[in-house]
Amino acid sequence: MESDQIWQEIKNTGSLNGRKIHYRDEIDSTNVLAAEFARQGCACGTVVLAATQTHGRGRLGRPWQSPPGKGIYFSLIWHSKLDMSDLSKLTLAAGLGLSRAVEEQTGLPTFLKWPNDLLVNNKKVAGILTENYGDNQGRKLVIVGVGLNVNTSQKELPPDLAAKASSLYISSGQQYPLGGIFDAVIRSIEGSLMEMEAGEFKKILDAWRRKDATLGRELTWVTASRSMITGTSIGIDDQGILRIRDRLGEIHQVMSGDLNLAAT
Ligand code: BTN
Repeated sequence: MESDQIWQEIKNTGSLNGRKIHYRDEIDSTNVLAAEFARQGCACGTVVLAATQTHGRGRLGRPWQSPPGKGIYFSLIWHSKLDMSDLSKLTLAAGLGLSRAVEEQTGLPTFLKWPNDLLVNNKKVAGILTENYGDNQGRKLVIVGVGLNVNTSQKELPPDLAAKASSLYISSGQQYPLGGIFDAVIRSIEGSLMEMEAGEFKKILDAWRRKDATLGRELTWVTASRSMITGTSIGIDDQGILRIRDRLGEIHQVMSGDLNLAAT
């Protein structure tokens, strides 16, 4: 199927390859509607996809700019059987799936910045906001929200993020069909989540480590309580937690907060 036809097919039928897709021309946030569907008991793998979001949400309460028809903004509803303590690993798996799909579709080399940023040429082109909704009959409901800047131009990105944010178009000079990219991304992310559910976290970790944008680099960690720790990334441990070695040799485990990479 031609790629733009894929987008049309989704709009016309509300599904793709047997997957239910709730498409909206405009929405506040796909994560919000996805949480409602999840609570109502929709099938695992259901997606909410929008052409634009008025209140797209990023990590740490930040907004996610979602210019109409320029990027892919969707939320995947996932039923996990993992222990509560392992749910954060799904974010790493989703990031890996996203990175594989983008590479396959564009040929651009991609890297991952813990926990969920997808980087091309050292700039962020996508982010993932994973939200958990507790137990439902022994399953945990997880919303995996993905924002990928595809054909976004520099002027459509927030000016204060000019040095940090990018899109596939800015990185390559090429425009991409949204439908084809979405199809590849959703299949790849779902594949990675299934690997996690099948107990293959070691495989995910090994692949994630090969794409780690921070390893060996100097960075500043702004903790949840706004204190700053500067040091060198020594990568993620076997639980997927990022570690930073500071100048005194102390190792810090990064559980939340924000990371700023020093310029190269
Ligand atoms: C981040 O990097 O801070 C995460 C960004 C996640 C944005 C996506 S866009 C689709 C979904 N709906 C939202 O409101 N947020 C996520």
